[in-house]
Amino acid sequence: MRRKLLLGNWKMNKTPSEALEFCNAAKEMGLAKLARANKVDMGVCVPAVDLQVVKKSLKNSLIVGAENCHWLDHGAYTGEVSIPMLKELNIGWCLIGHSERREYDNETSEKCNLKIKALLANGLVPVYCCGESEATYDAGNTKSFVEEQIIAGFKDLSEEEAAKVVIAYEPIWAIGTGKNASEEIAEDICGFIRKVLKKLYGAKVANKIRILYGGSVKPASVKGYLSQKDIDGALVGGASLDVNSYKQLLTAIL
Ligand code: 13P
Repeated sequence: MRRKLLLGNWKMNKTPSEALEFCNAAKEMGLAKLARANKVDMGVCVPAVDLQVVKKSLKNSLIVGAENCHWLDHGAYTGEVSIPMLKELNIGWCLIGHSERREYDNETSEKCNLKIKALLANGLVPVYCCGESEATYDAGNTKSFVEEQIIAGFKDLSEEEAAKVVIAYEPIWAIGTGKNASEEIAEDICGFIRKVLKKLYGAKVANKIRILYGGSVKPASVKGYLSQKDIDGALVGGASLDVNSYKQLLTAIL
């Protein structure tokens, strides 16, 4: 049985003091307890400079993840964050290959693969993002495009490693646009991703891997996605920034 997973992605939002305000409010609301009591894994992926303050505040009550990392432990890579840096802050999760990084920072699936392998080797959970552009969707090429992203991202992963990866399917045309994919489209592609994983690793492993949908998920729409057979959770941008709407994402699925 795959546990439900709700992850916020703050992107480039919230200074450390704003982040702390969110955490204090979340604690006051008893959000972590509510999630745990209902067997939902819940957390936020936050900008690098917020990681320390958020982790210190939330401890292990909610998942705290980074939004990116480098695959090497150290070196002359100005502006990058290494996995040992994340580990020292007890950060256990990291987004990889978000479409915004693929678009603006030349993040290829090959680089994602290096990062996924390095995270797994260090005991962190990679949340591997995939998804097609509007042009690819309109051309009817979503499945072949996403399949390539999955195959390249999972290259050389053992069955045991693959089972630990979380996948987030986020069609680019649905991100921040309010034009979310219908439940049917989201399930069609998430089900297809599971089929690709079955081909690569067999049914036992494929059935263990959690697949999230992301793209304009709101409290009003989250339940519909999570009711789908192959959608195990959501990766939420805008609606995770306000603590009240973040809580509503949870209460909506209980
Ligand atoms: P929105 O929920 O703001 O559309 O963002 C989705 C996303 O990119 C999460 O990673």
